[in-house]
Amino acid sequence: MKTALENIRIEAGKALEAAADTAAVEQLRVLYLGKKGKLTAILKQMGSLSPEERPVVGQLANEARAKIESLIADRKEALGKAALAGRLAAETLDVTMPGRKAPTGNRHPLNIVLEEVEEIFLGMGFDVVEGPEVEYDYYNFEALNMPKTHPSRDTQDTFYISDDIVLRTQTSPVQIRTMEQRKPPIRILSPGRVYRSDAVDATHSPLFHQIEGLVVDKGITMADLKGTLATFTQSLYGPEAKVRFRPHHFAYTEPSAEMDFMCYACKGEGCRLCKGEGWIELLGCGMVHPKVLENCGIDSAVYSGFAFGIGLERIAMRRFAINDLRLFYENDLRFLRQF
Ligand code: DAH
Repeated sequence: MKTALENIRIEAGKALEAAADTAAVEQLRVLYLGKKGKLTAILKQMGSLSPEERPVVGQLANEARAKIESLIADRKEALGKAALAGRLAAETLDVTMPGRKAPTGNRHPLNIVLEEVEEIFLGMGFDVVEGPEVEYDYYNFEALNMPKTHPSRDTQDTFYISDDIVLRTQTSPVQIRTMEQRKPPIRILSPGRVYRSDAVDATHSPLFHQIEGLVVDKGITMADLKGTLATFTQSLYGPEAKVRFRPHHFAYTEPSAEMDFMCYACKGEGCRLCKGEGWIELLGCGMVHPKVLENCGIDSAVYSGFAFGIGLERIAMRRFAINDLRLFYENDLRFLRQF
């Protein structure tokens, strides 16, 4: 029995050395020291020993148990230390390393320019209002003095959703919606998307943006229109910016005009930027047609107004020297990151 005890101790020692984790150590504890373990099995044979041998073997058995218990404790501690060292190594943080920067994105060039324009008009007492992009034919055309048979409907290739619902071809319908809801004095700016069924190229897109303006009050004249729009242009392009008005036709204004500003590259001489003209078109405008005021229940004998419509892409293209309209809508990060 002595040798059996000795062998168990040695065997247990080797097995523990090979145990790879605490679960394996626990299995070995059960195997050697458990109720049905190897050591217990030997102790059960003690009855067959002589009274003299019993205490000697008993003591040896206790020593073997104590030895194995301490081996188990040692192995557990060693495994624990190794696990901790492994975790510490894996979780090491180099606090001196520079942080990873989260990309913050940029403002879209169209938004940059839109905010500038809004800022200028807000400073002159305008409110910003919005209207729907899916619009009634009535607001987009009819109420703007363009009945179904009106020839100027042809100049705007319209996406029809039904006979009387369209994708708005201009922001001008917001004029009507505003005049229906508010009493003069009215001073509003209305930016937004507009749609025309144009083929895509460097200067055309079926979706683009306009900024509509409307002022209605007692005694508003062409002088107010000119003063307001000249002030706007100078705020946008600098105090030396010059503007000129050319007669034009819009169904909802009378008289109507287009406003150009003198080319800043050649100062009116004519160059590539202004295509030899010396002037660059900026917006359409005019005095609100009395019929349009009446359509909205505003007495044209008492009130008058002016209105204008600006193409947002055109301003942004010149501001940032962008030569292709498509760049605005393609979301190419190499383009967008430049702003
Ligand atoms: N709606 C016109 C267009 O799409 C722009 C415009 C011209 C708006 C004259 C106006 C205006 O309010 O008075 O080309």
